[in-house]
Amino acid sequence: MRELTNCHFTFFLCICLLLLLSPCWGQRSSPDPERPSCNGCDLRLSCDCSHKGFTRVPMVTDHALTLDLSLNNISVVTDDDLTGHMQLRALSLHGNAMIHQSAFDSLWSLENLDLSDNQLTALNPKWFSELGALQQLNLLNNPYSSCVGSAPVFEGLVRLRRLAFGGPALKELKRGALSGVTQLDELTVHANNLTRYESGALAYVWPLGHVSLSLHGPFLTNTALASAVLRDVSYPETPIILEDLHLIGNQSVQPLREAAKKRLRHITFRNLSISDEATVNLLKVFDGVPLTSLSVDGVTLTGEGRWEAASLTDQKSIDEFFLRNAVVLDVFKFVSFLQLKFLLQYPRKVSVINAKVFVMPCPTSGLLVNLQYLDMSDNLLTDMTLSETLCDGNSPLKDLRVLNISGNALKSVSMMSRLVAKLHKLTHVDISRNSYTSMPQSCSWPSTLRYLNISGAKLTSITSCLPASLEVLDLSSNDLRDFTVALPALRELHLSGNKFQRLPSGILFPNLQTLTIQSNTLNMFSRSDLQSYKRIQNLQAGQNKFVCSCDFVAFLQSGIKDGDVHLTDEEDSYICDSPLYLQGKSVGQVHLSVVVCHRVLFVSVSCGVALCVWVLVCVLLWRLHAIWYLKMMWAWLRAKHSSRRRRRLRDGEDSEPLLSFDAFVSYSERDASWVETYLVPELEESRETDEGAANHRTARPLTLCLHKRDFLPGQWIVDNIMSAIERSRRTVFILSENFVQFDWCRYELDFSHFWLFDGDAGGEPAILILLEPLSKDDIPKRFCKLRKLMSSPTYLEWPQEEDRREEFWRSFRNALRGEGEEDD
Ligand SMILES: *[C@@H]1O[C@H](CO)[C@@H](O)[C@H](O)[C@H]1NC(C)=O
Ligand SMILES: *[C@@H]1O[C@H](CO)[C@@H](O)[C@H](O)[C@H]1NC(C)=O
Ligand SMILES: *[C@@H]1O[C@H](CO)[C@@H](O)[C@H](O)[C@H]1NC(C)=O
Ligand SMILES: *[C@@H]1O[C@H](CO)[C@@H](O)[C@H](O)[C@H]1NC(C)=O
Ligand SMILES: *[C@@H]1O[C@H](CO)[C@@H](O)[C@H](O)[C@H]1NC(C)=O
Ligand SMILES: *[C@@H]1O[C@H](CO)[C@@H](O)[C@H](O)[C@H]1NC(C)=O
Repeated sequence: MRELTNCHFTFFLCICLLLLLSPCWGQRSSPDPERPSCNGCDLRLSCDCSHKGFTRVPMVTDHALTLDLSLNNISVVTDDDLTGHMQLRALSLHGNAMIHQSAFDSLWSLENLDLSDNQLTALNPKWFSELGALQQLNLLNNPYSSCVGSAPVFEGLVRLRRLAFGGPALKELKRGALSGVTQLDELTVHANNLTRYESGALAYVWPLGHVSLSLHGPFLTNTALASAVLRDVSYPETPIILEDLHLIGNQSVQPLREAAKKRLRHITFRNLSISDEATVNLLKVFDGVPLTSLSVDGVTLTGEGRWEAASLTDQKSIDEFFLRNAVVLDVFKFVSFLQLKFLLQYPRKVSVINAKVFVMPCPTSGLLVNLQYLDMSDNLLTDMTLSETLCDGNSPLKDLRVLNISGNALKSVSMMSRLVAKLHKLTHVDISRNSYTSMPQSCSWPSTLRYLNISGAKLTSITSCLPASLEVLDLSSNDLRDFTVALPALRELHLSGNKFQRLPSGILFPNLQTLTIQSNTLNMFSRSDLQSYKRIQNLQAGQNKFVCSCDFVAFLQSGIKDGDVHLTDEEDSYICDSPLYLQGKSVGQVHLSVVVCHRVLFVSVSCGVALCVWVLVCVLLWRLHAIWYLKMMWAWLRAKHSSRRRRRLRDGEDSEPLLSFDAFVSYSERDASWVETYLVPELEESRETDEGAANHRTARPLTLCLHKRDFLPGQWIVDNIMSAIERSRRTVFILSENFVQFDWCRYELDFSHFWLFDGDAGGEPAILILLEPLSKDDIPKRFCKLRKLMSSPTYLEWPQEEDRREEFWRSFRNALRGEGEEDD
């Protein structure tokens, strides 16, 4: 039994090992070395790996929040390509190929998934089974032909708010296709080739924010189907966008009746192609319908503008008419809009953008009696044709508040101001992107004008043509260098893209709150510059040629954040241009050293510190007698040197004649009296004493070397001492308090230390005479040899008592002579 268990266990181990080692297992559990990696992630953990030619899902950090893999050649997203991306919020696989059914199983946080333009031939409910957080899903342009397979696809997506599906291959939409989807902000369906639609397939989604439908084929060939679709998605409050329609005759317009029946309010046609007949019928379809906004973005008018047939229809609810990117196929046959009074008299807001309009005749503008907002940007208007459009300054557009003529070919500011002078409600004028090069000294704007946009022109200077009533002024992208006009009401001033070298004076704009002055040639600005603006709150001044001086860097890094002014552009748009070593660095990241920023302070502080250290070192040296040690060292070195020299000299001749003294007496200046009164008379004068009679040697006087008497004047003292000691048989030290304290003596003393106790010396010890009782402790520590000498009892003490002195002299003479005689 036991054996069997063991066997089982071994078998199990083997299997485990085998599994671990098999390449198949390795591929699943460990990172695959074959998998490419993508390092397109930025600081916000948004990873752009699009358009890189990856054929497999590359490896990116598990912390990524958004991952863009669009437009690669990824043939299949396998089930573990995306494991670990628990935090991923947005994933784009637009423009790749296939997806494994459990590829998204670990993406619990995913909110936005883009699967458009892949090769998904059928929608698999398993893809989405774990994506409970998904809010946005794009399935456009895949080759699936139906939205439901075996089970409802979107069943679990309770948070889904934006859904886009369909494509050229979509053939049928069955009821239940959207089951599980209850409420959407946006629904996009591309169904240009739809052939089967089960009524109710798109119904039951409510509330429904925006609907965008492409129903090109059905509108042309199967109007019943188109009607059924429109019936299911039309609600009064739901704006509908219809794309890619080609409306020719009466029939192709009829599906819109379904929308009209539901009292649709907002409709937009995008990429529309429409004939006159269709236009007329369209207007008839919307007859009396409370449609408030009609937008056409991208239209080809194939007719000649003969729409009078609809003149009896009621379009008075149309408030806003928007037309952009219009192409008239046959411009020269196109009739005037004069018959369109029934259409033009109601809207308050009209935009005709990029429609190659070169003139709107004065009578036509006379029809726009309700007009408050006119946008004719990106057309072909000139000063002359604009003059016609605005009836040479007597425009009937009395209610006009906003006039946008941006992106035309206007040249004269004075003409512009004259044409609008009588529009007494005009508040906004946008004449940006025109060809103005100068402005006159004075202009005649309406007094109500608050907003003026003259950006993107070629102005080189400004004048008091600018009205004082302005609150918002945009002069960006011109060639301005300075600003000299006072605008007391101005709240916003835009000066980006000019040639300013410094901020304009804030005194001109006492009410300015927002200033943008990016992309100029500003070198710097300071606190005082900003303080001249009394009310400034927002400043955008990046992308300038900043000189990163200490003041500027410090101001930008700290000052501006603490103050009332808020930098509204990105911190990393403030880049140093100079000095050279900081070029290209973000001002926020620059660290200027104290040396650079406080040079004077730095120099004075470092000098002070150096001085302190120097003084400290001096004091220390003085306290530790370093000078003394140094001097001694020097003396010792010299002594060694000259002694060697002298020895060499002496070795050549007889050594005896060099000895010219019996003893060198070293003593303190203050003990001179003792030497003179006692020592010299006693030893140098030949004297017979009672006892001395027996010893005839006693009679011989001794020669002493005294520094006072025998030193050669003018020679260095150490040399003198050295030669004195060398030429003397013995050295006598007269020790007293004075000796110890008197500097000069220390030389002698220590010199003889070296001499005596150095290996070179002959081994004749010095004779110590203590004039007063001196304890070893009185001798400074650095005279270590002397201290040592004193601890042995080889010194003589000068007796204070008269009767003991005889004995002293005797011992002294003996000491001086005794060994000397033996040596001989
Ligand atoms: C994808 O592969 C095809 C051929 O297989 C090639 O033509 C195409 O350039 C590749 N696309 C990218 C983005 O590398
Ligand atoms: C879908 O419709 C387009 C025209 O919009 C047509 O060119 C194309 O062949 C159709 N595709 C399919 C798969 O039916
Ligand atoms: C505009 O619609 C037509 C069909 O009417 C289509 O063929 C064309 O591709 C569309 N253009 C764009 C830019 O979508
Ligand atoms: C357009 O068609 C509708 C319904 O098919 C019809 O009622 C209407 O009279 C037609 N209009 C024209 C001008 O033929
Ligand atoms: C005028 O039109 C341009 C371009 O269409 C637009 O950028 C600008 O905001 C418009 N101005 C106003 C005041 O609406
Ligand atoms: C001025 O016009 C330009 C170009 O049309 C536009 O981009 C800019 O936003 C406008 N400025 C303001 C302050 O609206």
